[in-house]
Amino acid sequence: MNLPRLLSLLPLLAASLWIAPAGARQAVLPDGRDARMAWFRDARFGMFVHFGLYSVYGGVWKGEIRKVNRCAEWMMLAARAPRDEYAKAAVMFNPVDFDAERWVRMLRDAGMRYLVVTAKHHEGFAMFRTAASPYNIVEATPFGRDVIGEIAEACHRQGVRLGFYYSQNLDWYHPGGGGQSWDPPVPDTPEARDRYVDTIVIPQLRELLTQYGTVDILWYDIPGGVVSPEKARAIDAMVRELQPDILVNNRLGHGVPYDIQTPENFIPATGIPGCDWESCMTFNHSWGFAADDQDWKSARFLIRRLADTASKGGNLLLNVGPDAYGRFPEPVTERLSAVGAWLRNYGEAIYGTRASCFAVQPEWGRFTVRPAGPDGRSELNVIVFEPPADGRIPLPGLANAILGARLLGPEAREIPVEAGPDGPVLMLPSGLPAADFAIAVTLRGDPAVTGVQYAGADGVIPLLPAAAVCGGDVRHARVEISGLRAQEPHLIGWGAAGAFAEWRIRVPSAGRYALGLRIIGAREPRELRAVCGGKVTVLSVPAGKDEPADCGGILLDLPAGESTLRLEADASGAVVGFVRGVLSPR
Ligand code: GLC
Repeated sequence: MNLPRLLSLLPLLAASLWIAPAGARQAVLPDGRDARMAWFRDARFGMFVHFGLYSVYGGVWKGEIRKVNRCAEWMMLAARAPRDEYAKAAVMFNPVDFDAERWVRMLRDAGMRYLVVTAKHHEGFAMFRTAASPYNIVEATPFGRDVIGEIAEACHRQGVRLGFYYSQNLDWYHPGGGGQSWDPPVPDTPEARDRYVDTIVIPQLRELLTQYGTVDILWYDIPGGVVSPEKARAIDAMVRELQPDILVNNRLGHGVPYDIQTPENFIPATGIPGCDWESCMTFNHSWGFAADDQDWKSARFLIRRLADTASKGGNLLLNVGPDAYGRFPEPVTERLSAVGAWLRNYGEAIYGTRASCFAVQPEWGRFTVRPAGPDGRSELNVIVFEPPADGRIPLPGLANAILGARLLGPEAREIPVEAGPDGPVLMLPSGLPAADFAIAVTLRGDPAVTGVQYAGADGVIPLLPAAAVCGGDVRHARVEISGLRAQEPHLIGWGAAGAFAEWRIRVPSAGRYALGLRIIGAREPRELRAVCGGKVTVLSVPAGKDEPADCGGILLDLPAGESTLRLEADASGAVVGFVRGVLSPR
């Protein structure tokens, strides 16, 4: 968080209020980035399309299924297919059912607001008109049409934001491209790499960004590799010059600034505070069409993942792998229309929303927030997956005046609100939908919750980085995600004097609690002090190896009502990172 923003928050902290984690830490960047990002932050839901020569193979090489991590678009590598032999599929590539207008209509009907389509994947085959290589759909196939061009036109016509995926590093076809180790057309040298970037990547990106009107997103893949730091910077400069408002993802590498982080097939547990991000997700297990994979995610699963993503401040980019004819698999179209129907009822709880104001996610559903407009009213959206058995939805520590609560969708109705011990409670009446519905709670001002941590239904009190008040040099680590692994959000800066993190907690009655911690230890074993109700307990933290480990186990007596738990470090670098803690009743 920057200093002016921090100072502006001080009065609130002093008033014992603590603003939503995403709001509090959202960096306000000076370069107009907020304006460029606005549409993306409101869209929340997009479609990824993986369509290429691999769609012809569907993961089958010479009668056998050959995939990498269940991904069919990696078949060429899995089979170590010689390039010229693999390339022969081009003469069979005739996606006669491809209809860009129809694809775009389907994504709009599914409630998606943007499209990212593969212009060239790792196999090196361009799905667009390009002068840089004859290995492209216009020249090398009987189809002969510019698929990317037709998609771009359909998007522009139907008002859908457009993104291009481009594999700039891996290219298993062109000399000097990355990752071709089984049948390399030329030896891998720095000169060959640079030549590949100069003759294929740069000209093709230039074509993509000049031939098709406005392009909203450029989706690189696999950072670094054969693209040198100098070339990466040159690519970035060209891209931003050709399309000044474009958003780029974080997969070019070499520290080039980016707009969007890209967790793959997972939703980070607490989002990526302070960053814009988009979880991309397969519909079955493959990005490209896989002839043998019928394990489709259900509409209910997808709706809940979309709600989960939005509640953590991110977008969901759901993938479709059309087949060799250019058709979406039947189970995909079926589920997409179900998701679309849900969004027509409850989309108000998704589009244009921001991350939940609560540090803890409830078991029964998710929250999203619509910031206050000019009338000073905000909305707290409550997306209920499975209503709790007692029909009570607690809004723990919510400090705003509540102006009303209503069920969204066709059966809209008022929902009663009562005051509970830990904050307001929505009282679900009978006759609501059985599952997966949304309620909008109208608040005066932006949602603000007290910093107090409450026990959940199981009596356990979570101690999360997002809910901590920090002192000394303790701060949130920047979390970087561009693929399959997420680092858990954690607090760093424990080496300097005066380091602490503190939580306000509240329990209904006095009791004994075990403190459990998940910590990234220093090289040597160290100590932390837990200070609660004036009593200091010393905790030993075992030596760590950059990975979080569980420790703790000390017992604390908490008085009924509110108290404070503070973790303090000595000045010796007590721990490297605090990941999370829990207080469990004994
Ligand atoms: C990966 C894969 C790939 C897929 C993509 C989507 O890096 O290599 O096949 O296109 O990411 O996120």
